[in-house]
Amino acid sequence: MPKADTRTPDLDRLLDQMTLEEQVSLLAGADFWRTVPVPRLNIPSLKVTDGPAGARGGGPLVGGKKTAAFPVGISLGSTWNAELLREVGQHLAREAQDKGAGVLLAPTMNLFRSTLNGRNFESYSEDPFLTGTLGTAYVRGLQSRGVAATVKHYVGNESEYERNTISSDIPERALRELYLLPFEMTVKRGGAWAIMTGYNRLGGTYCSENPRLIKEILRGEWGFGGLVVSDWGGTHSAGESVRAGLDLEMPGPARARGALLEEAQNDEATRRAVREAARNVLRLIERTGTFDRPRDVRDESERDEEYADTRALIRRAGAEGTVLLKNEGGLLPLPAGARVAVIGPNAATGQVMGGGSAQMNAHRRVSPLDGLRAALGEENVTHAVGCDNDRFLPTLDVPLHLEYFGADGEPVATEERRGSEIMWFSFPTGVNPASFRARLSLTLSVPADGEYELSLASAGLTRLLVDGREVIDNRTNWQPGDTYFGMGSAELRASIVLGAGEHAATVEFEPHGGGFVPLNAVRLGFRAPLSPTALEDAVRLAREADYAVVCVGTNGDWETEGVDRWGLDLPGRQDELVRAVTAANPRTVILLQTGGPVLMPWLGEVPALLQGWFPGQEAGHAFADVLLGHADPGGRLPQTFPARLEDDPTHPETPDVQYPGENGHVEYREGLFIGYRHVDRAGRAPLFPFGHGLSYTTFELEDARLNAERIAPGGKVRVSVRVRNTGERAGQQVVQVYVRDAETTLERPAKELKAFGKVTLGPGESGEVTLPLDMRSLAYFDDARNAWVADAGEFDVLIGTSSADLPMRLPLTLTGEWSESVG
Ligand code: BGC
Repeated sequence: MPKADTRTPDLDRLLDQMTLEEQVSLLAGADFWRTVPVPRLNIPSLKVTDGPAGARGGGPLVGGKKTAAFPVGISLGSTWNAELLREVGQHLAREAQDKGAGVLLAPTMNLFRSTLNGRNFESYSEDPFLTGTLGTAYVRGLQSRGVAATVKHYVGNESEYERNTISSDIPERALRELYLLPFEMTVKRGGAWAIMTGYNRLGGTYCSENPRLIKEILRGEWGFGGLVVSDWGGTHSAGESVRAGLDLEMPGPARARGALLEEAQNDEATRRAVREAARNVLRLIERTGTFDRPRDVRDESERDEEYADTRALIRRAGAEGTVLLKNEGGLLPLPAGARVAVIGPNAATGQVMGGGSAQMNAHRRVSPLDGLRAALGEENVTHAVGCDNDRFLPTLDVPLHLEYFGADGEPVATEERRGSEIMWFSFPTGVNPASFRARLSLTLSVPADGEYELSLASAGLTRLLVDGREVIDNRTNWQPGDTYFGMGSAELRASIVLGAGEHAATVEFEPHGGGFVPLNAVRLGFRAPLSPTALEDAVRLAREADYAVVCVGTNGDWETEGVDRWGLDLPGRQDELVRAVTAANPRTVILLQTGGPVLMPWLGEVPALLQGWFPGQEAGHAFADVLLGHADPGGRLPQTFPARLEDDPTHPETPDVQYPGENGHVEYREGLFIGYRHVDRAGRAPLFPFGHGLSYTTFELEDARLNAERIAPGGKVRVSVRVRNTGERAGQQVVQVYVRDAETTLERPAKELKAFGKVTLGPGESGEVTLPLDMRSLAYFDDARNAWVADAGEFDVLIGTSSADLPMRLPLTLTGEWSESVG
């Protein structure tokens, strides 16, 4: 309820006072991150910020204001802890407000259809119920502190292939039971205030102008009263998109909606739709408290020291998301005082986040090496890199001097930044974004004479000079590549011999237009050659230590937006490194950091394996906590790890599936059978099943029961189970409840996750977990009847600790058919 002294206006009265032009002005952004203010009526601008794992603020994707980096989606998905997600949401609200934003563009609710989707790291799971439950908690946490969630990307955005145009053609049952469900839950249970449409089309119509998706399902069936915003550059029409229910085109200024005013002046239906959409924008301004407290959006603060609670939460969440996949002979946890060799390309580099719009300038990036040194003392930790895993050559963290020129070549401005990658989202005064030229200057510090690698990738035309000599020409040689959301070039590399000392590097840049949003960006990579004996050096170090921790995996250049994953093999010589170190030291722990599954040809040879994902800025501390047993590895896989790429549900070897698509369409022909649903049907043993994860202690599940064995249509039932910690340490267990429909009219997966709960128990302690099941837990979507239907008859309630370990089965009878029509 608005307070008595509130400045919040009556929205309908406000709309009456607005001219049509003013209403239209609200329906496209002012710039990349803000809506248009109407000062005459005291309507402030509303600022939004990415993204799921932090609040980046209004700056560029790289090198902007510092901010807290939280675990990525798949890491949060691994926690199976809704309460933790609520806390994360609450903390992110403060982060967003510190960046002047009232809206966070998160959480990402798309599912893992294929293990190869580039953005899987950003989402939570292959399972819609796990995704929706965690998303709901995140939304509630965020919005309880006055910041709007923007659940995204609605819907069917499960690949980056042709992402701006592809049509996801999803059978109705799969759409309802899988892909819409997390959105339905975050809207109905979470009460999300905003939703972002996907770039893609659904059944041939862009999601951003799809009346069935927006008007019928979202607003009609689910009662959504919030704001619908397009993905950035994903609005394709003026009046049509407004009439379909899309409120806001982003970013601004208007591109697709340039002619909206004219259309509205000439058409009554468009005028009505404009008023409705403007109302939704105003409502979000109201809900986020922005009328009462217009934020100074330029004033972005960087609070780190003050927020010890946020750092502690990120660290705890990172450990809770870390999955212990294997622990032969109880090698882990490592004893206090262990002498450890920390090895691998991800050892000294904190891989704390994925790439694309989910990246930000983290306050810090604690590497496994930093974390273990802090925990064990410098003297007990040695380090060797072993091999590299770069996709693109690494960027440099050095001062960057920028000079800007007009189209005529006259200097117009200069600027000082940091780092050898730049994405322009704003320019100094006097620079015309459409016609500028820029010269970037930085110093290469070369430690020793030798051959060095340099690279350029750019959205724009570029060339690189070192000491005045052209080294790379990415103007005449410009080829489209996978960088910068598909708007950038391929990476061009060159090797040159440099003497020890300082060298001047200069990059010349000019925009070349095109793209679905205006993007100018360049990345200069530089790498000193790895010693030819790097792998052998690592092996020697491993031999000398008590324990080896091998930090392998990928990084945000591999797991990113705009391009799908490269495959499932660990890049570079990492498999070789794992094998060599394990052979040299039997007490070797593999610490894997990826955004999804990889193949592990060495699995049989390694005694201990942790999957750590990208757990945010405190990564190394969270890993040290788990490695040393200060925290139990609380994670359980939110995704099936296939044993072979061919076992992916969308791999062409599976009959009649389609990925990534052809002729502009991708048919989700596998229907309901993704993730463990596919495993159950195909009968192929995965490398690790969905829901799997070990603890340092042991648990027994006992005394499983239902509070009723027969329920009537519309009824509810509670499943209870006692969890006993039978080991010597405190630990966490996740109780997973799946439902199997024993006699069903339509084909259904063998089982589906319908409830879960996490408990933390001390040694010898036991606790009761009670979880609700309702009619939707039993129902499937009957596309012929357009209704959710639970068939009368027998169901099995399966209880256990992973999709492949469900030792308890409780029969449940539904005494009559239950159904609920939609639409
Ligand atoms: C992404 C969105 C993101 C938006 C703004 C798009 O490229 O798909 O998830 O919120 O950019 O950065």
